[in-house]
Amino acid sequence: MTDRIKELNDKIAEAHLGGGQARIDAQHAKGKLTARERVQLLLDKGSFEEIGMLVTHRSKNFGLDKQQFYGDGVITGYGTIHGRLVYVFSQDFTVLGGSLAEAHAEKICRIMDLAMKNGAPVIGLNDSGGARIQEGVISLGGYADIFYRNTLASGVVPQLSAIMGPCAGGAVYSPALTDFIFMVEKTSYMFVTGPNVVKTVTHEEVTSEELGGASTHATKSGVTHFSCVNEAACLEHLRKVMTYIPQNCEELPPSVAYQTGNETRPKLDELIPENANQPYDMREVIEEVCDAQSFLEVHKDYAENIVVGFARLAGRSIGVVANQPAFLAGVLDIKASNKAARFVRFCDAFNIPLLVFEDVPGFLPGTDQEWNGIISNGAKLLYAFCEATVPRVTVITRKAYGGAYDVMNSKHIGADMNFAWPTAEIAVMGAKGAAEIIFRREIQEAADPEAKLKEKEALYADMFANPYRAAKRGYIDEVIPASKTREKLIRAFDMLKNKAEKLPRKKHGNIPL
Ligand code: HXC
Repeated sequence: MTDRIKELNDKIAEAHLGGGQARIDAQHAKGKLTARERVQLLLDKGSFEEIGMLVTHRSKNFGLDKQQFYGDGVITGYGTIHGRLVYVFSQDFTVLGGSLAEAHAEKICRIMDLAMKNGAPVIGLNDSGGARIQEGVISLGGYADIFYRNTLASGVVPQLSAIMGPCAGGAVYSPALTDFIFMVEKTSYMFVTGPNVVKTVTHEEVTSEELGGASTHATKSGVTHFSCVNEAACLEHLRKVMTYIPQNCEELPPSVAYQTGNETRPKLDELIPENANQPYDMREVIEEVCDAQSFLEVHKDYAENIVVGFARLAGRSIGVVANQPAFLAGVLDIKASNKAARFVRFCDAFNIPLLVFEDVPGFLPGTDQEWNGIISNGAKLLYAFCEATVPRVTVITRKAYGGAYDVMNSKHIGADMNFAWPTAEIAVMGAKGAAEIIFRREIQEAADPEAKLKEKEALYADMFANPYRAAKRGYIDEVIPASKTREKLIRAFDMLKNKAEKLPRKKHGNIPL
């Protein structure tokens, strides 16, 4: 072996180790895996091919020339997940805090460009203190190069981000531009400015965990879609999500083999309570209707009044959007509208058919909602459904009141099929509220106003608290026994599998952001 080859081999060995045992130990001591270990866990065994392992930065600022590390703090390359090609980058916090500068950014851009050209997903494992402060504006330029590519790739190839450590400054904006964010409880944080800056500027005292931990972003901000107990669970969950989504916008999602048999689900006939104001858990409906154990919930702990997630129906991947009567009576509010709109748009971009379960009393009234923009935020969900061209089917289980009837994938806004259970109530509002408004004078003038209200309420309920008026107009295609829902949906989605719909030609729409 010549000295030159030996030297190169040593460099490669050092790069493989992530640049030294001490740094690996430091990462482990924090309860974190190394960047390289993460890649190994994420990808199919032995599938990873590294690109740019020997790249180093070129800066001499502030003594950086004496701190050069192979790979410049990020491992990039490609491999497979369940046998399908993905591109991956994994930031190494032990190298200058995983900070991003010119060479580091170029490596990420390279694999993003390859992903776009070859039509495969990009997965980012983020662990970074943001723009490398020593390289100044060059670091900012590097971030902007990535943001630009994130945006161009949006809707072309799926982009998934796992946050595996502290991510600050620019390190949070690239994940924010991607389709899904995964966080690890207790060891990952996301914030634009950390607790020290917060204290200086606003005098607020807050811990990293409170400010931007997984639980905060899973429940309060909705920035993260998945919160996982540890890094291994996070990477495993990411692999699972990949089984529902296609490689790019030109492909269909993968499906699993399924032989149809007895698809009747008698339990569904028992789920709706006698009293229309009693809650029930819509997840039970989803689990009964979809293939066993196939429901993978997204944004589980955020805006719980709406449930969204991936599932399979007779082996085919679908996106489920469902009002949740067990939380705030399933009302639509700002957070729920945003959550569902984003999920609908992802499914539509990547050819994943949409199944909607509807039990919604309307939009949430009040100053808080109005002042914070329920009008424009609710309109986002309306817009998202209106422009979706994937197969779309709705099942109305109980209430479909007011504007929410229109919004929740009604046929008027392009849904392909609408089914209703016999318990469905399709009306402008609940019978009591309706009677109080349209019969106000009669009720006030009655000898017994309470009895009169009850009489008028019954009259209105008789007319509208059922699915048959809507079915007469063709707004509902069929009123079906709940137990037959799965069978009907399998047939409907099969009928729609070759659906091809084009929207009017335009540069792009203007969703009310
Ligand atoms: C250079 C950095 C760095 C950075 C961390 N390091 N962040 N080096 N540029 N941005 C280095 C540290 O100096 C330290 O080096 C090592 O990484 C580990 O950092 P620690 O602070 O010891 O780790 P920890 O206590 O875990 O804290 C992590 C952290 C903190 C919360 C991320 O390091 C931090 O607040 N960093 C700065 C974050 C920040 O303000 N970024 C914004 C940059 S501006 P040594 O040698 O001591 O081990 C930006 C704008 C982009 O990103 C805008 C786009 C829209």
